[in-house]
Amino acid sequence: MIEKLQAPKGVPEYVPPNGDLFKYVRDELAAPAIAAGYRYIELPYFEDFNLYARGIGESTDVVSKEMYTFTDRADRILALRPEGTAGVIRSVIENSLTQQGLPVKIWYAGAFFRAEKPQKGRYRQLQQVGIEAIGAENPALDSEVIALGYHAFKNLGLSSFELQITSLGCFNCRPGYREKLIKFLAEVKLDDETRKRADINPLRVLDDKRPEIQSLIINAPLMLDNVCNECRDYHEMVLKYLDHHGIPYVVNKRLVRGLDYYTKTTFEFVHHGLGAQSGIGGGGRYDQLMFSLGGQDLSGIGYALGVDRALIAAESENINLEQRLPDLVCVVPTDSEFNVNAFKIADLLRESGIVVDQVTHTKNLKNGLKVANRLTAKCAVIIGDDEVRTGIYTVKWLATGEQNSVPLDELVTQISQHLPLAEKPKKDD
Ligand code: HAM
Repeated sequence: MIEKLQAPKGVPEYVPPNGDLFKYVRDELAAPAIAAGYRYIELPYFEDFNLYARGIGESTDVVSKEMYTFTDRADRILALRPEGTAGVIRSVIENSLTQQGLPVKIWYAGAFFRAEKPQKGRYRQLQQVGIEAIGAENPALDSEVIALGYHAFKNLGLSSFELQITSLGCFNCRPGYREKLIKFLAEVKLDDETRKRADINPLRVLDDKRPEIQSLIINAPLMLDNVCNECRDYHEMVLKYLDHHGIPYVVNKRLVRGLDYYTKTTFEFVHHGLGAQSGIGGGGRYDQLMFSLGGQDLSGIGYALGVDRALIAAESENINLEQRLPDLVCVVPTDSEFNVNAFKIADLLRESGIVVDQVTHTKNLKNGLKVANRLTAKCAVIIGDDEVRTGIYTVKWLATGEQNSVPLDELVTQISQHLPLAEKPKKDD
């Protein structure tokens, strides 16, 4: 017996019909950014290890524990991309994209890799749709970016989620706060590993999800209570604009993100139906990232929305995504001698945007209709002797068994009329 192989642990696969639902979710998550004029970037799947070490921060779990790092044949140290922002900024610098005017607005989608402990909603290959707006610093832009993420989830039909937002301050107020936090943490009894993390980046400790650590830091000073006036005004303007957008939010002073580059506006979309892996998307502003990667001193803001988790969230809210996929029509020749005619009919319908599967491998009508039923087609266009001779085609609606005789020039309109476009939820339902 030859041993069967399996996909690697923690790597989800989306086979049909789930594959179609996954793609639908990814497209819906990307739609608001595309509608807002963001341009698409296709990034490398692996990069120089240093890009992530410098960009994301060496003390983060993502870099210190979760990166897939390897050396190539020339001993270069490379890493599979754990996220997209560092790669986007590297590319913007390398391709001088800022010369075309600011802000540079970019979107991306694809797989990212983190060697996390796998569980439902936490994968080693995860999929994101992300955007970055680089080279402008204005609360209006922050709120606009957040609004796009919010609408992406709303368009999908999600309602059981919350936008959490805070400010992580800037390079003027963060050092003072850091000192305060270090002082506080010095008084707390931490285990050796946590102490080490606290020494490298004390803010990381606030991100520790273990209840024993959380109880120790319950009275820790929080960044939002210690921001400078400029950061406070900026934060308040962002909130005001969100109010104008009609976007509900919760200020969460304890929000800490797993990546080190954030400054000022920082946010997360948290879903209530996902248990421990509740973050369905997150992002924020990064003042120093571009400069620290050797580029201009320009600030940016962006987000990444988790496609895998958005799909699970939709399932948890019983959203019928299948209903939103295009309906299928089957073209069924009763005999192979009608194949050529069937090709023409299939092309005609496809040209008008109808999804058509042509049944090419059946010997008779009964068998062809069985295939159409198995494919859950809405209707079958039957092509036999009579149809080819008269130019009047038989359309059989598979759910009811009802049959209509339709002249060739009415085929497209008649079928389109009977394939109701799926009803989408309104943006702010
Ligand atoms: P992140 O919060 O690390 O941010 O990831 C964004 C989203 O990706 C999460 O909210 C979650 O939905 C999904 N995600 C992350 N890890 C996993 C996993 N192991 N399994 C399944 N889904 C996961 C970033 O990656 C930043 N680059 C976002 C950003 C863009 N900030 C500024 N610009």
